[in-house]
Amino acid sequence: MPSPSTGTPWVVLKFGGTSVSQRHRWDTIGRLARKRADDGGGRALVVVSALSGVTNELTAIADGADDGAARVDALVARHRDFVQALDLDPDAVLGERLTALQALLADARAAARMLDWQAEVLAQGELLSSTLGAAYLRSQGLDVGWADARDWLDAIELPNQSEWGRRLSVSCRREADDAWRARFAAQPARLLITQGFIARHGDGGTAVLGRGGSDTSAALFGGLLRARGVEIWTDVPGMFTANPREVPDARLLARLDYAEAQEIATTGAKVLHPRSLGPCRVTGVPMAILDTERPDLPGTRIDGDASEVPGVKAISRRNGIVLVSMETVGMWQSVGFMADIFERFRRHGLSVDLIGSAETNVTVSLDPSENLVSTDVLAKLSEDLSQICRVKVIAPCAAITLVGRGMRSLLHKLSEVWATFGQERVHLISQSSNDLNLTFVIDEADADGLLPELHAQLIESGAMPVADATVFGPSWNEIQFGKPERAPAWWQGDDARERLLTLAQPGTPAYVYHLPTVRARAQALKAVAAVDRRFYAIKANAHPAILRTLEAEGFGLECVSQGEIEHVFDTLPGLAPARVLFTPSFAPHTEYDAAFARGVTVTLDNVEALRRWPETFRGRDLWLRVDLGRGDGHHAKVVTGGAASKFGLPLEAINAFAREVRALGGRITGIHAHLGSGIDHPKHWRGVYAELAAIADGVGTVDTIDLGGGLTIPYKPEDLPFDLEAWAQGLAEIKAAWPRYRLAIEPGRFLVAESGALLVRVTQVVDKLGTRRVGLDGGMNALMRPAMYDAWHGVHNLSRWGDGNEVACDVVGPICESSDVLGLKRKLPAATAPDDVMLVADAGAYGYVMANHYNLRGLPREDVLE
Ligand code: LLP
Repeated sequence: MPSPSTGTPWVVLKFGGTSVSQRHRWDTIGRLARKRADDGGGRALVVVSALSGVTNELTAIADGADDGAARVDALVARHRDFVQALDLDPDAVLGERLTALQALLADARAAARMLDWQAEVLAQGELLSSTLGAAYLRSQGLDVGWADARDWLDAIELPNQSEWGRRLSVSCRREADDAWRARFAAQPARLLITQGFIARHGDGGTAVLGRGGSDTSAALFGGLLRARGVEIWTDVPGMFTANPREVPDARLLARLDYAEAQEIATTGAKVLHPRSLGPCRVTGVPMAILDTERPDLPGTRIDGDASEVPGVKAISRRNGIVLVSMETVGMWQSVGFMADIFERFRRHGLSVDLIGSAETNVTVSLDPSENLVSTDVLAKLSEDLSQICRVKVIAPCAAITLVGRGMRSLLHKLSEVWATFGQERVHLISQSSNDLNLTFVIDEADADGLLPELHAQLIESGAMPVADATVFGPSWNEIQFGKPERAPAWWQGDDARERLLTLAQPGTPAYVYHLPTVRARAQALKAVAAVDRRFYAIKANAHPAILRTLEAEGFGLECVSQGEIEHVFDTLPGLAPARVLFTPSFAPHTEYDAAFARGVTVTLDNVEALRRWPETFRGRDLWLRVDLGRGDGHHAKVVTGGAASKFGLPLEAINAFAREVRALGGRITGIHAHLGSGIDHPKHWRGVYAELAAIADGVGTVDTIDLGGGLTIPYKPEDLPFDLEAWAQGLAEIKAAWPRYRLAIEPGRFLVAESGALLVRVTQVVDKLGTRRVGLDGGMNALMRPAMYDAWHGVHNLSRWGDGNEVACDVVGPICESSDVLGLKRKLPAATAPDDVMLVADAGAYGYVMANHYNLRGLPREDVLE
């Protein structure tokens, strides 16, 4: 690939319709063009589209609309108004051009709608916008020249191209000699403005480049001029990992290579026209996509030097896909069958996109953006094909495509993605031979709501390596609303850090719990009016100071073992048994006896226990834990609903359970469900609540509905805090419909996770084959969550607070297991060294309680801070 000559003075900037339709945007155009020229060798070429909406109008006129004259009048008025708004004289600036536009209606070629006439009509929009723009920028004191793009871009004829294509969707010559460049440079002004979309036809008339043509014009000029760069200025910040309207968490793609950008543009992103990459790609001219309203954002850079980062870069969805499935016996190895069917597609002018084949079936997809797929055409095609096979048309379908380098080597990371598709009906899977994309075709209706889920799974599995800041920029949400508003954590203040360093002195690993944080979370939950009874799931953290704090805040305590029950009453001897729940799983039956003896509320989730130990349950009030047939949670290992989970009574067994309880003279007084942990969508509980209330109605003796716990907290810097308001609102809605039940909750994590920090000390820092590892004196023995669930916890060097975090390190523990990793590629101070005190954040839930003696290492210490 030829590299662009660095000595060239030119930068090409392209502005689209919305960018040229307002005065303040033209000020931005002038400022940017001058700045780019100043930064480089001194010259900038500005390529513009027509004012927004104008090309659509011109297309209608060129198509021979009945009200063509009225449309022309409206266009004349609109342009005159805009020139006036620029404080310029419409007659002086646009008089001649507007007369030319009006004259086209009276042109002899108009009646027959000759193609060359149509091209001339279509070209007027850019001629007008570039003319008024040049006049305005000159009036603002800029040295701007106007160039007619037709003097510089030459349409070429391609083999097999229709007459229409040769005039209205042309390709242009991509090579120029030095003489061409010298002539171009001889134009006197420092800044030049020209039109996108239009070119010179071989016969000297006008030709146009088709949709997306202005991007392509800019890229062509960039290539011909050997420009330092081509900047496409639009009204979005760049290309994203998914359509931000559908996936607000989509990340800006900061850098792509040409091939990936091409693939993303082709499979969905509308930001850049796929045709426009070619001219820059062959000449090695770097491109950038930038936001006119927010010129300081980094945008997307596309070039050939981007080091190849393997991984999924984007996920897209195309609707309106038509599948044609062709079934035949005896096609296997029969010579010419494929040729036969493709010949029939060709005959009907249809180009095939994806192909899947089996012994007796070939299925292909038709992409609506490449084909004129009408019911008429499909009917004719089916008729034709049915002579050689059985045909089924499946539509409308959606094509969901993952784009990225090295798709084949990523397959093992896509298991969640496959599982998600497993729940839908996949008609076709296709992997491109360039190893850049993997496409799934499913029914359009099944695709709704799927993209956010798939996008999150790609990040979670590591298939989309968002930690690589050279490729992945901020999320759409972050760009729109700023970084999520997060109050600094309690341990970030100077005093708190000093205290923590002191607390690390007697020895690490050590957990420290900040009780004011526990209290603040408790009070936030207490403010939710729909909830009548609050319990704390002590399995998350059973430290006595935490139990006392939450009891004092009015929380009851939820236990899952006899050990937890004893611990609760040892810690709080006066606690009323009514404030304790017992929700065990597969516990020995003696634990139920002990719980009943204590007078606490017992929850059961199977019929077998009732039948096996009738004396234990005779005459008792019981809560029933149900499985609603689905689960949720931050990781498969914490999902507690659905057929694969050991928890909860399936809905079809409820009647049998109720009969059994009645036969024992008991009553079901509570209905309970806890479908998983670490759930971040606040409306989950609303749905659970509604289903449980309906079940409670059927049972008849229920007074309390318990929604379990599961509320998440923001572990990663980019995570938004749990939306408690939306959660509360969902509950209030159901409460209004079923006011007769008391609502109970039993969260663990939400109350205590953020209150806890794990203090550890650096043991060794080792560089091995390009990876720096920071070793700590506590790892998966002190905090299991990363090893067990790939959980993410912030890791910070407290001893070197204030140093930059500039070196990516893997943070590991002292246990003899490869999974003993607390964090991968974490940015830490370069000077991080043995004996530094490190803090692992948000470790207050499922930290100490899951710590262990593995390798005969001691348990962490525990401390509390008021
Ligand atoms: N209620 C029941 C019946 C539960 O099983 C649990 C948690 C909770 C309440 C509290 O859930 P939370 O609000 O904390 O999400 N070790 C895993 C979490 C396991 C949760 C087990 N059950 C982790 O570290 O993510």
